[in-house]
Amino acid sequence: MKVYVLNGPNLGRLGTRQPEVYGATTYAELAEHLVETGRGLGFDVHVRQTEHEGEMIEWLHEAADAKAPVVLNAGAWTHYSYAIADAAALVPLYVEVHISNVHGREEYRQRSVLSAKASGIIIGCGVGGYDLALAHIASLGLDA
Ligand code: DQA
Repeated sequence: MKVYVLNGPNLGRLGTRQPEVYGATTYAELAEHLVETGRGLGFDVHVRQTEHEGEMIEWLHEAADAKAPVVLNAGAWTHYSYAIADAAALVPLYVEVHISNVHGREEYRQRSVLSAKASGIIIGCGVGGYDLALAHIASLGLDA
């Protein structure tokens, strides 16, 4: 089964971006790891990252057309983008992931426009949260 792992702005900087908040794993390492983890679960995982909201929306449309689940870390868009929320609502299911514990950070990070329609939400588990999201999707036993 195809699974998309979609990452929003600044997540391509993992490894150098505030490592005390987001950890030392680079985006490239994470992407490679998730493809491997997905393979072990029988998934064909597509890991992507963009700085452009329209591109993220088009990827969500692609996932909707492919009827594929999505692991979504929309970065800062999480907190205010109704356009991303509307596009995410089109996919069969999505798991919202945040590497950091957004609830222990700035006030504006404590609101998510994505959470209401998420199949699950994983917050503050570091980059391991993506693995947890894939495991959650596997546990749903969806048809390929
Ligand atoms: C983040 C949290 C967001 O508030 C922030 O803008 C990010 C990353 C996280 O993974 O912890 O870019 O989604």
